[in-house]
Order: sequence, then C-alpha cells, then structure tokens
Amino acid sequence: MEGSGQSGESAENLNGTNQNPLPPIVFRADTNAVFGTEGYGLDVSAGQITITAQAGPGYFYAVQTLRQLLPPAIEYSGTLPYALSVASVRIRDHPRFEWRGAMLDVSGHFFGPADVKRYMDLMALYKLNRLHLHLSDDQGWRLEIPGRPALTDIGARTQVGGGEGGYYTLAEWDDLVAYAASRNITIVPEIDMPGHTNAALASIAELNCDGRRTEPYTGIDVGFSSLCVDREETYAFVDDVVREIAQRSPGAYFHVGGDEVTTLSATEYNAFMDRAAEIVARHGKLFMAWDGVAETRMTLPPGAVIQVWRPQTADTGQHLVDAVSRGARLILSPADRIYVDMKYDASSRLGLRWAGFNDTRDAYDWDPATLVSGVPDSAILGVEAPLWTETAETIRDLEWLAFPRLPGVAEIGWTAHERRDWTTYRTRLAAHGPRWDVLGINYYPSPLVF
Ligand code: ACM
Repeated sequence: MEGSGQSGESAENLNGTNQNPLPPIVFRADTNAVFGTEGYGLDVSAGQITITAQAGPGYFYAVQTLRQLLPPAIEYSGTLPYALSVASVRIRDHPRFEWRGAMLDVSGHFFGPADVKRYMDLMALYKLNRLHLHLSDDQGWRLEIPGRPALTDIGARTQVGGGEGGYYTLAEWDDLVAYAASRNITIVPEIDMPGHTNAALASIAELNCDGRRTEPYTGIDVGFSSLCVDREETYAFVDDVVREIAQRSPGAYFHVGGDEVTTLSATEYNAFMDRAAEIVARHGKLFMAWDGVAETRMTLPPGAVIQVWRPQTADTGQHLVDAVSRGARLILSPADRIYVDMKYDASSRLGLRWAGFNDTRDAYDWDPATLVSGVPDSAILGVEAPLWTETAETIRDLEWLAFPRLPGVAEIGWTAHERRDWTTYRTRLAAHGPRWDVLGINYYPSPLVF
C-alpha cells in the first residue's frame, strides 16, 4: 500500500472544508511486521500524516486514534465552518490483549439492530473488537432458528417487565455480522444452557422433562430453569441451534453459557455440558462458557475459553487454576469491576447492585494479571465488559451505563498495566466528554471524572 495514500481526498474529508486542509494521509505497509496484526504507527508532522500497519485492523485502529487526536468537532456530521488541526505526534501502539470485548444482553430487554449497531459504533471508537450477544435467557429468545418457529413465535415475545420483546431475523443477523466486520468487531453468539432457558422451555414442550411448556417469565430471578438433560430431544434442539448459528457466524467461538444452574446435580450438569461441548466442536466452533464450568469435572475441550464473572476468592481461583492447567484460557469479566450494569453509586437511577457499586475508577483501576492468583498472563485471552439489561430499556440507558466505564475497559485491553494510572487516565477521560456530547452519547457525568 506504500505510496497509495489518498492524500487530497482524505484530508478534505477529515477537514470538512477545502480551506487549509490537514496534511495528506499516507498509508504504508508494515513490511517487517513490527506492529503485529492489530498494531499501528501514526506519525503526524506538518507535511504529512503517515499510518503504518501490517493488516486491516491496524489501519482501522490508527484512524480511530487520529479521530481522537482531532478536536471533538470532527465527530460533527455536517460541514464545519472552520478548519481542524491535529498535533504532531509519533505513536507506536499495539494491544495488550487479543480479546477486548463488550457483552450486550438482548434477552432481558430486546435491542433492535439499529441499537446494536450504535453500540458497535461506540465500541469501535475505543478499539474494542468482540461483541458478545447474550441471545437467550429466561425472559426472551432473540434469534430466528430455521425449523424451530416456536422460539420466535412464543419465546421472543417477552422481556423483563412484560414489554413486547423481539428477535433478529436471519437477514438482520447476517447484516449485524457484516456491520461488525466493517468495524473490526467479531460477534460472539451466546445461547445460555442448560439453565437460563425459560424462553425455550415456554416455546417447545419436549425440552421439559414433564413434556409441558412452561409459562413465559418476565421477572428477574435466576437459577430456576433447565433444559431436560435426560431427553434426546434436548440434544437435537441444541444441535439445531448451534448448527444454524455457527454457520452464520464467522467468529471462532460459540458461548454456551452454563451459569447459575441450581436444579441439576453436578453429574447431570457435567453430562449435559460434555454433550454441548461435543456439538459445538462438531459445528466447527471453539467452546466458551461462564466460569461455572470450571467448578465441575466436565471435560474441557481443546481451545476452551472460560469467562470469569464471579468476584474472586481463593476458592473459586483454584478451580480456574485447575482449568488453566487443563488447557483453558480465561476472559476476565469480574462482576465487582466491569459489570457495567451495576450502579455507579447509590444515586444511580439505573443498574443493579448485587456485586456492589462499580464506579468509573473501580472499572478502570485493576490489573488482569493479578485478578486470579496462580494464573499466568499467557492464559488470559482478554477482558470483556458485560451489560445485562434487567434495568436498561433503551439505547440511551445502555449509553448511560457504558459511558464512562467502557472506555476504561478498552484501555485495560490495550495498555500495559505499568503504563496506566487512574490520575492521568481521569484527566484524559474527562477530555472525551465534549466528544461524547457531539456524538450524542448519553453518558453519566461521573463526579470522579467531570
Ligand atoms: C452471569 O452474570 N450470570 C454470568
């Protein structure tokens, strides 16, 4: 790509006017591969802006950084009456972790494609690269599955509090997957099983041990539902669902949930999870689940990824160390740090508080390397900020919970721990407020920051 910079045109687009344009932007190939596939160099001088990268993600992230270096007005969608300027810099950047994720629970409350795209736009600003969609739970089933129309005719029609719910058609799913790819985001589908399954149990009688459909559920209790693990119909169902979703999802992982199952014995749970893992592998995906699977003796398949969500004690940590010694890798989503559906403080209108308050500093000021003692850095695939939606009903609610906490999770994912500190971060974060105003983000004006 060397020499193929779209000089005049890019400068005009970034500038918004023809007067006093920014210097031309030149894109160069990192032929020695010093930056890695996601890294980049960005050099701004009076005469030229040079972006150097090895691959698509690096170029994309360089442009996101350039956006941040430009004044907030760059985010204004109309023509600006004045020229923009950008400081001279020399940046060499690459992420600490491969997996820098956000999870959106579209089951508690349903969020349509436009809202999910908006959330991806906001993730992309901060170079997050995995969107984990929690597509099924007690309160709703959210994706069309060929041959299983009851899931969407019945299971999709509920949500927390009794609203109308909704689901993604296959065409909408394909469009979301493509939209994600255009922003260097991989969608990670989760179908939670064997618990958190009332929406499926209310739709399909054969998934219940007594052969009768359950009543729809719109409350916020957890732990009461399970697929019938003794019936072959259950595994035919899991096979249909995993097959259809896997073939429409280019990412490597399929998340099977596995959390908060209280109605099964350990033997029943393990037997179910072993079969679920086999089905996931058969459809060409790697197994991913919440940390409940580490406590059991289920066989962890090669490449398994465990998402750590429970606040850590020495006891839960030992299970994770054992799982890592059996080959698993971890994604860290500690509920008492980066569950961005927790309230910020007692005054928060939205959010839950079972894991405590997570203020902006709590979400930022911790080190993945020390969360689970005894787990080496090489076993940590990355970090992910879940947003459960029991209390969030609109995109504005999502924005209020995610901002300003989500950018802190992105920085944990990108920057070495020794190069981060709350005091300087807080100042840098505060400078993003005017940018969020231009972007129309409904952020929480945390008194710790603004
Ligand atoms: C979870 O929060 N139940 C994973």
